[in-house]
Amino acid sequence: MGKYADAFDRSISDREAFWLEAAQGVDWVTPPTRALDDSNAPLYRWFPGGELNTSVNALDRHVAAGRGDQAALIWDSAMVGTVRTYTYSQLLDEVSRFAGVLSAQGVTKGDRVIVYMPMIPEAAIAMLACARIGAVHSVVFGGFAAPELATRIDDAQPVALVTASGGIEPGRNIEYLPMAAKAIELSEFPPTTVIVKDREQVAGSAADFDGWLDWDAEMAVAAPADAVTVAATDPLYVLYTSGTTGKPKGVVRDNGGHAVAMTWSMGNVYDIKAGDVFWAASDVGWVVGHSYIVYAPLLSGATTVMYEGKPVGTPDAGAFWRVVADHKVSALFTAPTAIRAIRKADPEAAELAKYDVSTMHTLFAAGERLDPDTYEWATEVLGVPVVDHWWQTETGWAIAANLRGLEPMPLKAGSPTVRVPGYQVEILDAGGAQVTDGSEGNIVIKLPLPPGTLAGLWRDDDRYRTSYLSAFDGYYLTGDSGYIDADGYVFVLGRSDDVINVAGHRLSTGGIEAVVASHPAVAECAVIGIHDDLKGQRPSGYVVLKSGVEIEPDTLRSELVKMVRDEIGAVATFRDVTVVAALPKTRSGKILRKTMRQIADNEEYTVPSTIEDRSVLDALAEQLGGK
Ligand code: COA
Ligand code: AMP
Repeated sequence: MGKYADAFDRSISDREAFWLEAAQGVDWVTPPTRALDDSNAPLYRWFPGGELNTSVNALDRHVAAGRGDQAALIWDSAMVGTVRTYTYSQLLDEVSRFAGVLSAQGVTKGDRVIVYMPMIPEAAIAMLACARIGAVHSVVFGGFAAPELATRIDDAQPVALVTASGGIEPGRNIEYLPMAAKAIELSEFPPTTVIVKDREQVAGSAADFDGWLDWDAEMAVAAPADAVTVAATDPLYVLYTSGTTGKPKGVVRDNGGHAVAMTWSMGNVYDIKAGDVFWAASDVGWVVGHSYIVYAPLLSGATTVMYEGKPVGTPDAGAFWRVVADHKVSALFTAPTAIRAIRKADPEAAELAKYDVSTMHTLFAAGERLDPDTYEWATEVLGVPVVDHWWQTETGWAIAANLRGLEPMPLKAGSPTVRVPGYQVEILDAGGAQVTDGSEGNIVIKLPLPPGTLAGLWRDDDRYRTSYLSAFDGYYLTGDSGYIDADGYVFVLGRSDDVINVAGHRLSTGGIEAVVASHPAVAECAVIGIHDDLKGQRPSGYVVLKSGVEIEPDTLRSELVKMVRDEIGAVATFRDVTVVAALPKTRSGKILRKTMRQIADNEEYTVPSTIEDRSVLDALAEQLGGK
């Protein structure tokens, strides 16, 4: 039996031994004697009785082991032209002092802290400082506008908000402080403390707001805080992600299972060991940033690169290759959309030829399916394995992957390869029966999920059950559809719900719809994700006007675009608005979104038998020029 097959088999059939062995990669205050607690199934807990501190595992123990002078975090900002390196000792010092700042403000174990920050090292420092004192961080992506931040504040009910004067996007600065202030004004449970990291490039500082604290001033007088021991099952963070409604889901990650899974995956999936340089070109606001910019590389004693910039235009399509060469990156992890953007700007890879990227042994891609065309191009120009892997915010690490450190397997274009140990992935039809090899269906994971996956939704077990556990008894519903071929390779074809993926950013069409529907001229609307060559998908809105309302299409479009930017954020990239006479529906009043998407994408479609009025669909097809 190969190493992969053996590991997969043991992870299921000898679950306790397998995961307790993996747990030895972590330093425990009280080592766990059991792996899985299934006493409250289908809600599971990992490593009951175990106690640890995640920041000690990410920092202190590497310093103690003699890695104090090794680079822990390299911040490379293409936006401000700065590179700053923190050794493990320096990062430990910063984290301990910021933990002291939080403690001095009364933040204690179990309290929530919202981190609303751009891609600066202080974001990682704030996260690790929370972990140090057992506080629960909730990072909110900087591309979200004030109302989205307010929704998260109200759900998490944080004691403190840590932010910065702003982020820097090509051609414009994003001032965070007015948005933070607005969010606080909108929220019912505002934080008592606000701490601001002042960036000289962006206007605004703590001094502009009554009672807000300046990061640097507080750090200058802070006493370093000792690490607080927490239970393996205590929450490390809550990360909000888009569901099918406008209300985001607060994915809860524990401390123990997370530390074990992160450490195991860094070696077995990414083939990264202590001392290697790993770069996840994502954002701390997304799960990829949590897992593979901050936690996994540091838990493993590697060096993590944190990049502020874009794949193209900052200044050119050689930006990624420059970073790889400058910091001797061993493996890069990015989203397929970034590779497509580089290819579009530099199809012959002339920029790549300017840099020595020979340190890079693998390019990893996730966030959306790595389309075969992009896979072939990247493989050809880079000459290293280009490895797709599939996962989601909820799981926190790969569900299907080519396990490069365990046993590299042949790559198949369009597939993230095989089930990762611990994940019993199956394909079920609508009735819950297993389908045959190669047949498409719902991708589900037999419970229990492995360590590191969601412990539930923040203070909402009911929603966890209804959203994920109730569709098929004994299974977790991923929300994706796809198939598994006869060789056991998983193929993920897309979401089977109303979640869309725009440039690797996960968005809810329901959330955008709610904003569009609130326009006074709009009677009803549907927002669907249509194909986009660069971004994979983009939201497209179809609007029915109230009777008697007259509004220029251009005026309506620019008003709706502004509303979505103000309510959700620029990251929604909502630009398409089409006025239609009516929306096609089923007899029970459900909008036929899938059929609409097929028409908009110019795909073949069949008219559902449940349709209420066929002529509405025909009119739409004619208007959109569909097949
Ligand atoms: N803060 C504020 N605004 C942000 C932002 C942030 N952190 N990130 C993006 N935005 C804004 C952009 O400025 C842009 O605004 P605009 O409409 O005024 O131009 C809008 O949101 C859309 O941004 P984006 O989707 O990033 O598009 P882009 O055209 O600027 O760049 C890519 C296209 C493909 C280069 C870029 O999307 C990319 O690098 N994607 C990879 C994403 C990724 O790594 N995802 C993580 C999953 S692994
Ligand atoms: P997020 O929670 O933002 O990471 O988004 C998760 C969703 O992105 C998944 O449910 C998939 O729909 C999609 N996704 C992520 N990675 C992949 C991949 N490698 N292949 C196909 N879809 C992916």
